[in-house]
Amino acid sequence: MNILKLYKFINLKILGKYILAFCNLGGEMKEISMHILDIVMNSVKAKATLIEILIEDSIKNNWLKIIIKDNGIGMSGEMVKKVTDPFYTTRTTRRVGLGLPMLKEACERCNGYLRINSCLGEGTTINCYFEKDNIDRAPLGNMGDTIMTIINSLENCELIYKHETDNGSFTLNTVELKDVLDGGSINDSEVLLWIKEYVNENVESITKN
Ligand SMILES: Nc1ncnc2c1ncn2[C@@H]1O[C@H](COP(=O)(O)OP(=O)(O)O)[C@@H](O)[C@H]1O
Ligand SMILES: [Mg+2]
Repeated sequence: MNILKLYKFINLKILGKYILAFCNLGGEMKEISMHILDIVMNSVKAKATLIEILIEDSIKNNWLKIIIKDNGIGMSGEMVKKVTDPFYTTRTTRRVGLGLPMLKEACERCNGYLRINSCLGEGTTINCYFEKDNIDRAPLGNMGDTIMTIINSLENCELIYKHETDNGSFTLNTVELKDVLDGGSINDSEVLLWIKEYVNENVESITKN
């Protein structure tokens, strides 16, 4: 790589940081739950039949960890390297979105990280870590709304959502929910609203100090 190329490359990197920062300032992702929705939609597009969301929110450990796991089509090692770099697209014809790079940026701003484990034909796990008391950390946001929206957009796919804090944990599993509904639709508006309230009440009860 000659000096000019290197210079262009560094400039693009810096520009990238500014664009990402601008998106965030512009209110694109004011809440971490927006990122969660975005990442879960990747799993849906990847034809997952099971998606797991695990949130570990700990004051004691001063961390907010988010794990999103799916059994979808997965990614090759090469692809995993590409997807967190918003500028890789300049060198290929494939369009790559900003969902993963934006979340990675948000994590790293909070002394955290985003790691991707993926295997073609097996699935993908996204591991995110935020320093909980970091001044740059966005609030988690409304998980009731988020889980309701996710469940409403699932077809032939189950969701397990587990939320843990220092005070306890709770789990929502659409397989169990469908059992209780006994043939009734999980996409029924009354059921969806109940799910939203149920999630919010449970998150609140384990988040209180
Ligand atoms: N869970 C996943 N399973 C398979 N491929 C994925 C997954 N998440 C992301 N990808 C791949 O990475 C690409 C980039 O994802 P993302 O940054 O969210 O942008 P976008 O969804 O807009 O393309 C996706 O287009 C997809 O090809
Ligand atoms: Mg996406």
